[in-house]
Amino acid sequence: MVAMIYFGCDYYPEQWRQWLEEGEARWKTDAQLMREAGMNVVRLAEFAWGLLEPEPDHFDFTWLDRAIDVLHHHDLKVVLCTPTPTPPPWLLAEHPDIAQVTASGRRQGPGTRREGCANHPIYRERSRIISQEMVRYYADHPAVIGWQTDNEFGCHDSAYCYCRHCERAFRTWLAARYGSLEALNQAWGTAFWGEVYADWDLIPLPSLSAAERNPSHLLDFRRFGSDTWRDFHNMEIEILRRHCPHHFITHNLMGFFMDLDYYDLCQELDFVSWDNYHYHGATPATIAATHDHMWGILQRNFWVMEQQVGQINWSAYNPMPAPGFVRLKTYQALAHGADGIVYFRWRQALAGSEQYHSGLLDHAGRKTAGYAEAQQIGSELARLAPVLEATQPQAEIAILLDYDSRWALEIQPHTTCLRANVDATYTVVNPATLVDPDATGSWQYMIGRAWQMWPFAAPYVALWERNIPVAIVAPESDLSRYKVVCAPFLNLLRPAVVEALRGYVHGGGTLILGPRAGLKDQHNKLFPMPQPGPLSELTSASVRFFDVLEPNRTHRLVWPHASDLRATEIGLWAEVLDANGAEVLATYEQGWYAGEAAITRHRAVLDGARGQTIYLGCMGGPQLYHRLFDLLLGDAGVEPILAAPAGVEVMARVARDGRRVVFLLNHAQREFYVTLPHEITDLLTGLQHGRRLSIAAGQVIIYEDQAAAAPATPT
Ligand code: GLA
Ligand code: ZN
Repeated sequence: MVAMIYFGCDYYPEQWRQWLEEGEARWKTDAQLMREAGMNVVRLAEFAWGLLEPEPDHFDFTWLDRAIDVLHHHDLKVVLCTPTPTPPPWLLAEHPDIAQVTASGRRQGPGTRREGCANHPIYRERSRIISQEMVRYYADHPAVIGWQTDNEFGCHDSAYCYCRHCERAFRTWLAARYGSLEALNQAWGTAFWGEVYADWDLIPLPSLSAAERNPSHLLDFRRFGSDTWRDFHNMEIEILRRHCPHHFITHNLMGFFMDLDYYDLCQELDFVSWDNYHYHGATPATIAATHDHMWGILQRNFWVMEQQVGQINWSAYNPMPAPGFVRLKTYQALAHGADGIVYFRWRQALAGSEQYHSGLLDHAGRKTAGYAEAQQIGSELARLAPVLEATQPQAEIAILLDYDSRWALEIQPHTTCLRANVDATYTVVNPATLVDPDATGSWQYMIGRAWQMWPFAAPYVALWERNIPVAIVAPESDLSRYKVVCAPFLNLLRPAVVEALRGYVHGGGTLILGPRAGLKDQHNKLFPMPQPGPLSELTSASVRFFDVLEPNRTHRLVWPHASDLRATEIGLWAEVLDANGAEVLATYEQGWYAGEAAITRHRAVLDGARGQTIYLGCMGGPQLYHRLFDLLLGDAGVEPILAAPAGVEVMARVARDGRRVVFLLNHAQREFYVTLPHEITDLLTGLQHGRRLSIAAGQVIIYEDQAAAAPATPT
């Protein structure tokens, strides 16, 4: 964890030097304006390879030196990037096959970014050289505090490539994984459609094909693509560490992006960063979930390396955010564990493909509303940063996010509602709206890139609405610290995950397994046993069969033993369960399987510890999870930070000694009243407040207290 809050912007001095008549003289004005906004850090050079190495092995750091000197002179620290997402024109001209090949066999055109194939030996070697030259040159510069590797690995569909280098590398990867062709044929079940391989060189890349490919083949290709970029990433990290051992190294991730296994990709980093944009359909809850996912990757505080300041240029409609947006999003990030906030971008570009993307300054150099809000935060942080030191989010509930399972879902969604319905212009068909056309329904939380978050959003949103902090973590993490573990989509089970979950429940934990859990083995084949396969020992119940619900067909659950007799709407997926002695919590209300079990609970009393496993055989929105949480959370001893009206998010950062910094974030367009357990001093304004507190639309209130001293109070 860094010992202060870093606050700054993403800056491209090379662009302004070319675009403005005053040239480099502009840098000083920019640096002054950054300081006026209270900034202390600037990220530089992630796309500047062509300017840093204009000809092969001719390096020109002179312009970057001058830019860094200006920033340094203004007391601004620098995060430098390895510029490897943009191989320069000379490199692509000399070796056109550095550019990736798509699944349909088309080579990407040069001249933009992210076209490089990480398995191409020359792209790798030139990436190594430019990174090494740069880090050697800047390792001891007093302004440089850390490094960002590359930029958004996997962006623009670049995680997977189908070139001949990748073909060779894939076969080598498979040989290392399986050792023998017999083992591979067995693992993939290649007897289906007579696919049995007698030579490694016969194994194809899973390019576009006449019929659907073998899901085991596809899953291994996903893993291979992810490993490819992990290895490329680790190559850069190793160079940076060797030459610059005392600086931090981070990478800017893309939230719920699913093509790369972020747990693997980030293993060697000091902390992760991510780029926080309010794409079409994002909601305060989905952004909160993304922060918690980012925190959960290394279970450590993180940075927002690109924080949106106005319009973006790549979503479906790109509206101008309302006043207060930048400040609210910034405090939301800090609340969820950000120790660095860096705004993208300093000034709106005059040239290039992102001209319609806002900056803190507009294209004409005027301060925008975003700048004014950043400036306000800059002055507020002077007071707040010391209070946030050595604090981080603390959760008693974990949601498990597993990349193999997400890939298995994408490979075989089995219903078009769970398909990745994203076209090239980022228009998204929302599986949730297909189920519930009521625009005010809680299903609406799962819009935008919902398919990427599905079905993680539903339990998360329910907990977020209750102001209960959540950690989103890998299934193999240490789960013993959580009172409840929710695995909404654990379709595929690796042996280590089975062990981890068994240990967790036997240790007294409460486990919630969602639909399709334990259907697949680690090779993406069905287990030859009833679902949830090796987890049946924990659930006792098993799945007799599943039904898939078309968009206009919903279903209702009844809860025979609950005090709340209301039915709950579900959709998309309905499994009929054999309870096998487990307690039936909910049954289906309608149709030909009315009365059959939909949700069960099995309590395991082992070695004196009391654990339980809830099996949830259907998909639903947050309301479904609210019903479950009503039943479970009280007994599990999980409390909200504070009860607050819907629309007001409550989040906290906690120090080791229990000192707690509580954030109230009003995401709604109206004022609310919140009842506090005690009087507070607002750390932003210094004002004292009584227990009944008004929070205006879009406003933020932050106060300190002791974790244990603040039980939930109803409003
Ligand atoms: C990404 C990239 C940036 C820029 C922004 C635009 O996050 O990292 O270079 O393209 O998107 O929103
Ligand atoms: Zn390739």
